[in-house]
This record gives sequence, structure tokens and C-alpha cells, in this order.
Amino acid sequence: MNILILGGGGREHALAWAVKQNPKCDRLIVAPGNAGIAMLAECADLDIMDGTAVVSFAEENAVDFVIVGPEAPLAAGVADALRAAGILTFGPSAEAARLEASKGFTKEICDAAKAPTAGYARFSEKAAAAAYVRAEGTPIVVKADGLAAGKGVIVAMTVEEALAALDDMFGGEFGDAGAEVVIEEFMEGEEASLFVLCDGTDVLAVGTAQDHKRVGDGDTGPNTGGMGAYSPAPVLSDAVMAQAMDQIVRPTVAEMARRGTPFQGVLYAGLMILDGQARLVEYNVRFGDPECQVLMMRLGAQAFDLIHACAEGRLGEVQVNWAEDHALTVVMAANGYPGAYAKGSQIRGLEELPEDSSHMVFHAGTVERDGSVVASGGRVLNVTARGTTLSEARDRAYAMVDRIDWPGGFCRRDIGWRAL
Ligand code: AMP
Ligand code: GLY
Repeated sequence: MNILILGGGGREHALAWAVKQNPKCDRLIVAPGNAGIAMLAECADLDIMDGTAVVSFAEENAVDFVIVGPEAPLAAGVADALRAAGILTFGPSAEAARLEASKGFTKEICDAAKAPTAGYARFSEKAAAAAYVRAEGTPIVVKADGLAAGKGVIVAMTVEEALAALDDMFGGEFGDAGAEVVIEEFMEGEEASLFVLCDGTDVLAVGTAQDHKRVGDGDTGPNTGGMGAYSPAPVLSDAVMAQAMDQIVRPTVAEMARRGTPFQGVLYAGLMILDGQARLVEYNVRFGDPECQVLMMRLGAQAFDLIHACAEGRLGEVQVNWAEDHALTVVMAANGYPGAYAKGSQIRGLEELPEDSSHMVFHAGTVERDGSVVASGGRVLNVTARGTTLSEARDRAYAMVDRIDWPGGFCRRDIGWRAL
């Protein structure tokens, strides 16, 4: 089969790595890809936000199956364009991608599905929003409605902070994403993520993970896209997972189908767990990054069969072969991230590292220059390992980190602390 993956981060490197191991994969193209992906697949220069261009490329290259990595092309309707052209695609329609692209829409679906989530109100006008904040008090959570690259959520501890967030959002800081604002009850608890394949009707959980959003050790400093992750997440015990599937995921999928906009792809449920009960924080309509890296490391080649069955509407026929294993990934980022950082620093020592079913350095922001790997983004490498215990996975990952010679980068040293 000829397979095209859209995206060029650590998530797509991990997807490509898993897909490539499956004997059904004949030719693998990733657009745009990165320096690590180029070591195992063809990279193509393609505007992945342009549905027409993606369809033409897929037709010219006899692509049988397209896997869409990031949310932006999904929200822009790239999966719709591909399916309209008769090309098998993994990833939701633009309508179904609203579960990530509009926080207000997600709340509306939760109401209809009776899925437990934070209490909320929606506003399109600042004065009413400010009055609501004053009446509710703090802590309170202020969210720009639309896609804001992970920066559109402010957990406000004081009324002043919440009002400042409203000023920014209604003042246009988030563009159209902030034209509407959702204000939510602050939920206490422990966060974890549940990843569920959905083919429109059937659902199949493919793993749990916990991310580390803050830049510094001990969960300090500003928020990032994620500085490391591990799987499974112990807080998502079998009982909590069953409750989340029964009360949150299945009713959501049923409500989407009832509206005539079935969800097909991976539904990433961000959950807050307190006293053994999960409530929904938010949905994403794609794999997490870096959570995908630990999921792919655990699933290996079967990941492709599951994703393919999902796209073909055959989820009811497949199951996950779970191993009693753990995976952990450490993100190496450019000095300065998540603030301003330099690009172009050289990374040495990667070629001496093990690469097997338990060790892999997935590349995020890298490019190849004159035979060397250089940093080209904020989050640059995802050093990933698997073990029979989480501490074994962690020790293997940090042993690799310590062999990477990259003065231009840093990482957290405490990934996995909550479960260890
Ligand atoms: P994201 O939307 O992924 O940028 O993340 C927003 C983060 O804000 C979540 O991962 C939570 O840590 C936090 N958050 C969002 N909504 C709530 C809420 N209602 N209560 C408590 N924390 C929240
Ligand atoms: N790691 C968080 C995300 O992918 O949204």
C-alpha cells in the first residue's frame, strides 16, 4: 500500500516509524516531514493546508491511504477533500474537527451527551463576560473559543488575571479564535489523556498517557506544547477508563453521529480525575504530541492495522494486543523555548544511539544541513524508550539523552515523576 502521512513533527515521525514496520506498507511519503523522518520515508514539499493540492499530490503518487497528523488541516477540511476524491483517509471531517476547533461547540455536545465536564458559560461580548467572572470569583478558567496553538486557555487565580485574559481575547490577541470566549469552572484533580479510535460508530481505546506541560522540573515555569509523556497513565485505572468511555466518549460519538457529522479518526480526551471519577477538560481530534510517541512505541506495527481498520469502518473487527509494558519520552527543546529561541544549532551523537523496538529518537523540529542534523524548531527531539517498568523506560530514555551532544538544547530531568 502507498501511504501518505501529513505533518512534520515528532508525532508524525512516530506514526511513520510504526507504519513503516507493518508489511502492508510499500511506499511511505510524509509531507513535509523532517530530518528524522527522511531517514525512513520520502519527504515531500506540499502545502498540507491546501486540500486541492493534497488531493492532486495523492493522485499523482497513487496514494492508497492518507493519515492526517495535525489539527489545522483537519479543521480546514483536508480530510473532507480527500474523501470527496475517493481517497481513504484517517482523520475527521471539518465538521467533526470542531470538537477541537471550537470549545463552545464541545460544551454544546457535552450538554447533549450528558458527559461530565466543567460548568461553563459562553460569551461574545466582554462586559457580560467580565460581570460573570466577578460574580463567579476565582479560580476560574477563561478559554478562547477557537484554535490558539495551545495558548488560548488561562487558568486565572485572581479576578484581575481573568479580566486581563478577557481583554486579550476580546482585544483580538487570538484573532478569530477569541471572538467567542468560554468561561469554565476550575476543576481540581489529576489530568490524564485517553486516546480512542472512532470509525463513526465503533470505538476502540488505544492507550492512555500523561503529559508534562510546564517547561521546568517540578512542573514550574510557563506552559509548553508538552515536555515529555509516558504511557500508560496509572490514574486511568480500568474502572476510571470504563467510566470515561461510558459517560464521555461513547455518548459524544453517538451525539456526533446523531447530528449527521460522525467522528472518524482518533479522539483524544483530556480528562480531570478526582475521587475515581473522570470529567472532560477538552477534546482534541488528533494524536497528542508527544503522547503519540509513547503510544506508537508501545503499539508498534499493529498501530497501522488499527488506524487502517478505523478509516475503513472496521473497528468492530479488530482489537489491541496489549503488552505489559511502559513507554516514556523526554522532549529536548531549544534553549529559550517556549519563549524566543535560536534555530540552526547542530546536534551530534544521534547516529551512535540504539534504534530498535525499545529505543527511538523521534525528531520534531529538525532539518538536515550538509549531512548534519540541526535544530529548526522549539521542541526538537523526543527521546523515547520502552521497558517492562516505567523506571526502566525512564532510565533508558535518559541514558540516550545523556549521549546526545547538543549545547543548544535542554530537557526536563523529571519526566514520569507523578507515576514513579
Ligand atoms: P490546552 O487546552 O491543552 O492548552 O490546556 C489547557 C489546560 O488548562 C489543561 O490541560 C488543564 O491543565 C487546564 N484546564 C483547562 N480547563 C480547565 C478546567 N476547567 N479546570 C482546571 N484546569 C483546566
Ligand atoms: N501534548 C498536548 C497536545 O498534543 O495537545
